[in-house]
Amino acid sequence: THILVAALVLGYVLGSIPFGLLITRAAGLGDVRNIGSGNIGATNVLRTGNKKLAAATLILDMLKGTVAVLVALQWGVEPALAAGLGAFIGHLYPVWLKFKGGKGVATYLGVLIGLYWPVALLFAVIWLLVAFISRYSSLSALCAAIAVPVSLYILGEPRIAGLFTVMTVIVFIKHRANISRLMAGTESRIGSKG
Ligand code: G3P
Repeated sequence: THILVAALVLGYVLGSIPFGLLITRAAGLGDVRNIGSGNIGATNVLRTGNKKLAAATLILDMLKGTVAVLVALQWGVEPALAAGLGAFIGHLYPVWLKFKGGKGVATYLGVLIGLYWPVALLFAVIWLLVAFISRYSSLSALCAAIAVPVSLYILGEPRIAGLFTVMTVIVFIKHRANISRLMAGTESRIGSKG
Protein backbone atom coordinates (compact mmCIF):
# COMPACT_ATOMS: atom_id res chain seq x y z
CA THR A 1 0.00 0.00 0.00
CA HIS A 2 2.95 2.35 0.53
CA ILE A 3 3.66 2.18 -3.18
CA LEU A 4 -0.01 2.94 -3.97
CA VAL A 5 0.01 5.99 -1.72
CA ALA A 6 3.31 7.15 -3.24
CA ALA A 7 1.88 6.71 -6.74
CA LEU A 8 -1.29 8.60 -5.81
CA VAL A 9 0.75 11.48 -4.36
CA LEU A 10 3.09 11.55 -7.36
CA GLY A 11 0.07 11.72 -9.65
CA TYR A 12 -1.56 14.41 -7.55
CA VAL A 13 1.54 16.62 -7.52
CA LEU A 14 1.91 16.38 -11.30
CA GLY A 15 -1.82 16.75 -11.95
CA SER A 16 -2.16 19.80 -9.76
CA ILE A 17 0.16 21.90 -11.94
CA PRO A 18 -2.32 24.37 -13.49
CA PHE A 19 -0.69 24.74 -16.90
CA GLY A 20 -3.52 26.77 -18.44
CA LEU A 21 -3.25 29.36 -15.69
CA LEU A 22 0.57 29.46 -15.71
CA ILE A 23 0.83 29.67 -19.51
CA THR A 24 -1.68 32.48 -19.96
CA ARG A 25 -0.18 34.39 -17.05
CA ALA A 26 3.35 33.99 -18.47
CA ALA A 27 2.07 35.25 -21.84
CA GLY A 28 0.77 38.40 -20.13
CA LEU A 29 -2.87 37.57 -20.79
CA GLY A 30 -3.88 37.87 -17.14
CA ASP A 31 -5.90 35.32 -15.23
CA VAL A 32 -7.73 32.90 -17.54
CA ARG A 33 -10.26 32.36 -14.74
CA ASN A 34 -11.61 35.85 -15.47
CA ILE A 35 -12.62 35.05 -19.04
CA GLY A 36 -15.16 32.81 -20.77
CA SER A 37 -16.27 29.89 -18.62
CA GLY A 38 -13.64 30.73 -15.99
CA ASN A 39 -12.09 27.29 -16.46
CA ILE A 40 -8.32 26.75 -16.58
CA GLY A 41 -8.44 24.24 -19.45
CA ALA A 42 -7.43 24.43 -23.10
CA THR A 43 -10.97 25.21 -24.31
CA ASN A 44 -11.08 28.34 -22.20
CA VAL A 45 -7.47 29.32 -22.97
CA LEU A 46 -8.60 29.29 -26.63
CA ARG A 47 -11.11 32.00 -25.70
CA THR A 48 -8.13 34.34 -25.17
CA GLY A 49 -7.78 34.04 -28.96
CA ASN A 50 -4.34 32.40 -28.76
CA LYS A 51 -4.44 28.98 -30.42
CA LYS A 52 -0.83 28.13 -29.63
CA LEU A 53 -1.33 28.68 -25.92
CA ALA A 54 -4.50 26.58 -26.03
CA ALA A 55 -2.61 23.76 -27.80
CA ALA A 56 0.22 23.99 -25.26
CA THR A 57 -2.31 23.81 -22.41
CA LEU A 58 -3.96 20.76 -23.95
CA ILE A 59 -0.67 18.94 -24.48
CA LEU A 60 0.78 19.73 -21.05
CA ASP A 61 -2.46 18.88 -19.20
CA MET A 62 -2.49 15.56 -21.08
CA LEU A 63 1.20 14.90 -20.50
CA LYS A 64 1.00 15.24 -16.75
CA GLY A 65 -1.48 12.36 -16.71
CA THR A 66 0.57 10.25 -19.12
CA VAL A 67 3.84 10.87 -17.30
CA ALA A 68 2.31 10.03 -13.91
CA VAL A 69 0.99 6.72 -15.27
CA LEU A 70 4.18 5.73 -17.10
CA VAL A 71 6.42 6.48 -14.13
CA ALA A 72 4.19 4.48 -11.76
CA LEU A 73 3.84 1.65 -14.27
CA GLN A 74 7.40 0.67 -13.37
CA TRP A 75 6.04 -0.31 -9.95
CA GLY A 76 3.10 -2.24 -11.43
CA VAL A 77 -0.37 -1.82 -12.88
CA GLU A 78 -2.10 -0.92 -9.62
CA PRO A 79 0.34 1.90 -8.84
CA ALA A 80 -0.21 3.14 -12.41
CA LEU A 81 -3.98 3.22 -11.81
CA ALA A 82 -3.41 5.09 -8.54
CA ALA A 83 -1.08 7.59 -10.22
CA GLY A 84 -3.63 8.18 -12.98
CA LEU A 85 -6.39 8.80 -10.47
CA GLY A 86 -4.03 11.07 -8.52
CA ALA A 87 -3.22 13.14 -11.61
CA PHE A 88 -6.91 13.50 -12.48
CA ILE A 89 -7.85 14.50 -8.93
CA GLY A 90 -4.84 16.85 -8.82
CA HIS A 91 -6.03 18.64 -11.93
CA LEU A 92 -9.58 18.97 -10.58
CA TYR A 93 -8.69 19.87 -7.01
CA PRO A 94 -5.25 21.51 -6.91
CA VAL A 95 -4.21 22.59 -3.42
CA TRP A 96 -2.41 25.60 -5.00
CA LEU A 97 -5.71 27.00 -6.32
CA LYS A 98 -7.66 26.39 -3.11
CA PHE A 99 -8.86 23.11 -4.66
CA LYS A 100 -10.60 24.93 -7.53
CA GLY A 101 -9.09 23.37 -10.66
CA GLY A 102 -10.20 22.29 -14.11
CA LYS A 103 -12.76 19.90 -15.54
CA GLY A 104 -10.30 17.09 -16.18
CA VAL A 105 -10.82 16.22 -19.84
CA ALA A 106 -7.24 16.61 -21.10
CA THR A 107 -5.78 14.88 -18.06
CA TYR A 108 -8.34 12.08 -18.39
CA LEU A 109 -7.12 11.55 -21.96
CA GLY A 110 -3.48 11.69 -20.88
CA VAL A 111 -4.08 9.03 -18.22
CA LEU A 112 -5.86 6.89 -20.81
CA ILE A 113 -2.92 7.18 -23.22
CA GLY A 114 -0.66 5.82 -20.49
CA LEU A 115 -2.99 3.00 -19.43
CA TYR A 116 -4.61 1.86 -22.69
CA TRP A 117 -3.71 3.96 -25.71
CA PRO A 118 -6.02 2.31 -28.30
CA VAL A 119 -9.06 3.49 -26.35
CA ALA A 120 -7.44 6.95 -26.12
CA LEU A 121 -7.48 6.92 -29.91
CA LEU A 122 -11.20 6.10 -29.81
CA PHE A 123 -11.70 8.99 -27.36
CA ALA A 124 -9.92 11.35 -29.76
CA VAL A 125 -11.95 10.17 -32.77
CA ILE A 126 -15.28 10.61 -30.95
CA TRP A 127 -14.21 13.97 -29.54
CA LEU A 128 -13.18 15.25 -32.99
CA LEU A 129 -16.30 13.88 -34.67
CA VAL A 130 -18.73 15.45 -32.19
CA ALA A 131 -16.71 18.68 -32.17
CA PHE A 132 -16.74 18.81 -35.97
CA ILE A 133 -20.52 18.41 -36.02
CA SER A 134 -21.54 20.43 -32.94
CA ARG A 135 -18.64 22.80 -32.21
CA TYR A 136 -19.19 22.16 -28.49
CA SER A 137 -16.05 21.16 -26.59
CA SER A 138 -18.03 20.07 -23.54
CA LEU A 139 -20.48 17.88 -25.50
CA SER A 140 -17.56 16.27 -27.36
CA ALA A 141 -15.83 15.45 -24.07
CA LEU A 142 -19.00 14.04 -22.51
CA CYS A 143 -19.70 11.75 -25.50
CA ALA A 144 -16.11 10.53 -25.63
CA ALA A 145 -16.03 9.97 -21.87
CA ILE A 146 -19.12 7.73 -22.03
CA ALA A 147 -17.51 5.52 -24.66
CA VAL A 148 -14.30 4.94 -22.67
CA PRO A 149 -15.48 2.82 -19.73
CA VAL A 150 -17.94 0.96 -21.96
CA SER A 151 -15.17 0.05 -24.43
CA LEU A 152 -12.79 -0.96 -21.65
CA TYR A 153 -15.38 -3.34 -20.16
CA ILE A 154 -16.04 -4.84 -23.60
CA LEU A 155 -12.29 -5.26 -24.14
CA GLY A 156 -12.06 -7.23 -20.90
CA GLU A 157 -10.20 -4.64 -18.80
CA PRO A 158 -12.46 -4.40 -15.74
CA ARG A 159 -9.91 -2.68 -13.48
CA ILE A 160 -9.08 0.09 -15.92
CA ALA A 161 -12.78 0.31 -16.83
CA GLY A 162 -13.63 0.73 -13.15
CA LEU A 163 -11.20 3.61 -12.79
CA PHE A 164 -12.60 5.32 -15.89
CA THR A 165 -16.19 4.76 -14.77
CA VAL A 166 -15.37 6.79 -11.67
CA MET A 167 -13.51 9.42 -13.69
CA THR A 168 -16.32 9.73 -16.25
CA VAL A 169 -18.86 10.28 -13.47
CA ILE A 170 -16.62 13.02 -12.04
CA VAL A 171 -16.19 14.59 -15.51
CA PHE A 172 -20.00 14.77 -15.80
CA ILE A 173 -20.32 16.32 -12.34
CA LYS A 174 -17.67 18.91 -13.25
CA HIS A 175 -19.60 19.74 -16.44
CA ARG A 176 -22.90 20.45 -14.65
CA ALA A 177 -22.91 24.10 -15.75
CA ASN A 178 -21.97 23.12 -19.30
CA ILE A 179 -24.79 20.55 -19.41
CA SER A 180 -27.30 23.18 -18.25
CA ARG A 181 -26.04 25.57 -20.94
CA LEU A 182 -26.18 22.83 -23.60
CA MET A 183 -29.81 22.13 -22.69
CA ALA A 184 -30.63 25.82 -22.67
CA GLY A 185 -28.86 26.31 -26.01
CA THR A 186 -26.49 28.86 -24.52
CA GLU A 187 -23.23 26.88 -24.44
CA SER A 188 -20.44 28.69 -26.29
CA ARG A 189 -18.99 27.04 -29.37
CA ILE A 190 -15.31 26.20 -29.83
CA GLY A 191 -13.37 29.31 -30.72
CA SER A 192 -16.12 31.76 -29.84
CA LYS A 193 -15.28 34.22 -27.09
CA GLY A 194 -18.45 33.53 -25.04
O1 G3P B 1 -12.53 20.33 -21.41
C1 G3P B 1 -13.34 21.31 -20.85
C2 G3P B 1 -14.49 21.51 -21.76
O2 G3P B 1 -15.20 20.31 -21.83
C3 G3P B 1 -15.37 22.63 -21.33
O3 G3P B 1 -14.61 23.78 -21.10
O4 G3P B 1 -14.28 26.18 -20.72
O5 G3P B 1 -16.18 25.39 -22.12
O6 G3P B 1 -16.24 25.01 -19.68
P1 G3P B 1 -15.36 25.17 -20.89
